[in-house]
Amino acid sequence: MNIRQAKFLMSNSRVEDCPAPTLPEYAFIGRSNVGKSSLINMLTEQKGLAKTSSLPGKTQLINHFLIDNTWYLVDLPGYGYARVSKEARTKWGRMINYYLHKRENLTCVFVLLDSRLEPQAIDLEFMEQLGQDGIPFVMVFTKADKQSGTRTRHHVASYLAKMGETWDELPRHFVTSATEKTGRDELLSFIEEVNRQVAQAGDNA
Ligand code: GTP
Ligand code: MG
Repeated sequence: MNIRQAKFLMSNSRVEDCPAPTLPEYAFIGRSNVGKSSLINMLTEQKGLAKTSSLPGKTQLINHFLIDNTWYLVDLPGYGYARVSKEARTKWGRMINYYLHKRENLTCVFVLLDSRLEPQAIDLEFMEQLGQDGIPFVMVFTKADKQSGTRTRHHVASYLAKMGETWDELPRHFVTSATEKTGRDELLSFIEEVNRQVAQAGDNA
């Protein structure tokens, strides 16, 4: 699949104000600065579509992008950013949680993980919670260009081993680099396949 058209629709803090939940929706989440907005720009091949920054905490709202008039990409604020007030963190946490639970067309969550790091407690806990809540997700390792393939594979294996301690079935995972466009075809093929399944389920309903 290739993306022909990607446009920014709106930013909201309230799920109720988000676009009509009529299309499959894929949300990008993960720690601040992990590369969520950059990955959205890489997938859509539009450099400035989602706002990026070298400083964590750039994305602060639920941002909707409409892709080819058939599905939504959502850029969310990062979790675990220490340098904002506790109050602001609680507010974001609530907003994200509410979004994850109430957004009825949410089809799959992309949990972004820094491929340079050993498994992080905050990410493992976040995925644990998604699993418990029955929210479908995949793991997306970012910034693979920043180190050797061997190190990336080591960190991916460590994450999968950790996840395997709790879950019988491991979520799918993708290795990406926003600068090298690594993983772009794989992610887009995955989305295409899920979109097809959603359409089929709709036909059978
Ligand atoms: P918040 O919105 O603050 O939560 O951050 P984010 O997860 O959206 O991260 P963002 O896309 O803004 O990227 C953070 C920084 O990492 C920026 O300086 C990006 O240029 C850099 N970056 C993101 N992805 C990659 C990548 O794949 N490779 C390299 N080398 N740098 C990346
Ligand atoms: Mg961002």
